[in-house]
Amino acid sequence: MNISFAGLDLPRSGAVAVGVWEDGVLTPAARRLDEASAGAITRALTAAPRFKGKKDELLPLIGPAGLQVSRVVLAGLGKPDASSAPSLQQLGGNLIAHLNRAGEKKATVFIDVDEGAPIGAAEAAAQLAFGAQLRAYRFDKYKTKQRPEQKASLETLVVATGVLAAAHSAYQPLSKAAEAVFFTRDLVSEPANVIYPETLAAQAETLAELGVTVEVLDENTMSKLGMNALLAVGQGSTRPPRVVVMQWHGGATCDDISPTRPLAFVGKGVTFDTGGISIKPAAGMADMKWDMAGSAVVIGLMRLLAARKAKVNAVGVVGLVENMPSGTAQRPGDIVTSMSGQTIEVLNTDAEGRLVLADALWYCQDRFKPQLMVDLATLTGAVVVALGHHRAGLFSNNDELAKRLITAGEDVDERVWRLPLADSYDREIDSDAADVKNIGAGRAGGSIIGAQFLQRFVNCVPWAHLDIAGTAWSTKDAATVPKGATGFGVRLLDRFVAQHYEQE
Ligand code: BES
Ligand code: MN
Ligand code: ZN
Repeated sequence: MNISFAGLDLPRSGAVAVGVWEDGVLTPAARRLDEASAGAITRALTAAPRFKGKKDELLPLIGPAGLQVSRVVLAGLGKPDASSAPSLQQLGGNLIAHLNRAGEKKATVFIDVDEGAPIGAAEAAAQLAFGAQLRAYRFDKYKTKQRPEQKASLETLVVATGVLAAAHSAYQPLSKAAEAVFFTRDLVSEPANVIYPETLAAQAETLAELGVTVEVLDENTMSKLGMNALLAVGQGSTRPPRVVVMQWHGGATCDDISPTRPLAFVGKGVTFDTGGISIKPAAGMADMKWDMAGSAVVIGLMRLLAARKAKVNAVGVVGLVENMPSGTAQRPGDIVTSMSGQTIEVLNTDAEGRLVLADALWYCQDRFKPQLMVDLATLTGAVVVALGHHRAGLFSNNDELAKRLITAGEDVDERVWRLPLADSYDREIDSDAADVKNIGAGRAGGSIIGAQFLQRFVNCVPWAHLDIAGTAWSTKDAATVPKGATGFGVRLLDRFVAQHYEQE
């Protein structure tokens, strides 16, 4: 779908969408259309009393007399002072879903934001376009037999605005964000026969084009570094594991006396999680192709920081492995020595993400001495039990960091909810045979137990863990996120960086 901005002339073809505020108050564009159609809009509002102009309401007028357009869509905006970036994104997303269902090819949308709204006209136009773009994502490269009505019909979306140039430039960074989100969604959607550690590492290497320094550690290097916890997870697979290190230097340069210590982002990249010898049941196992979502978010984030030349130093570290059962797989009860020197009793080979992250986190803090570290992982089914698919679990050893992540999540509508860490939970992973075991006694508090395990591999650095098992993938369409891979975390962390860590 092609998105562009244009001036305020009423279109003479395709569909047109205009806003209606709550209680049926017409926006200026809606009034103009009403006049041009001898009151068709006013009549429609009377004929459809359930349409109140509330947020998320859409009312189509098909083939309206007196106008040359194919349809007019009245879009509820809610209260005039309530327009915000997320609400406009959602409007954009809902609109294009509606237009695609209707089979429209071209649409022009007029959005009038009220003076009292907390968002200006240019930003509003850009955010609406962004929402439409995010919703337009499709992963259909493997569908070779789509009937026309199964394909998206909308080819062109024109956002009409009185501040054309400003809207266009406000859209540029957002369009880069959409590209990064799509990159992440693509990686997560690809099946595990296509994306496995080596091919995922190759995808990360493409970031070099944007100025990111990318290193790929192979098994030999990892083994020399002592990453035995990570290696043990991969040892049952014929596909060798990889660790990818991505560095973006957009902040203080190397010849500065004290270059700013980087922000670090660490991702779980289990390209397929069978559970290993502690094998998962067949039903639903295919979902585990997206067990690398944490790593894909880190890669997408690094891509976005580089694409928009963020004034920050950031490093991304992803641990990539395939967790398979085989004659060479690790066994329940095995004891491995992690890079930190701590020994781990692996009582369940399906609690593998934490083994991967144990070495990735340790390596990252040891090598880069980051000012903070945020990891993302589809770590536990238990977080889905706790929070459903609405929010990711947040764990942190630092209140300020936790607050910043919560706020950034609210701003971009990728919400997180903080869950506790405490010594009483930590005691549950003391092992009889080694320093730590990779599961607790039962299923209780499973996400917290996972987070406690990770914390054993984090020293004093401010650290946060996002358990995205419930939010990385969706089975339902949402306004700006079609069902499938969501890319959850890319926009959140980009906002987090922009809000607090970029130099002027
Ligand atoms: N990748 C899974 C977690 C998961 C489950 C993600 C469902 C998305 C949806 C993880 O590796 C796992 O298997 N965790 C176990 C931990 C348990 C063995 C302590 C789980 O959640 O059951
Ligand atoms: Mn698992
Ligand atoms: Zn897993």
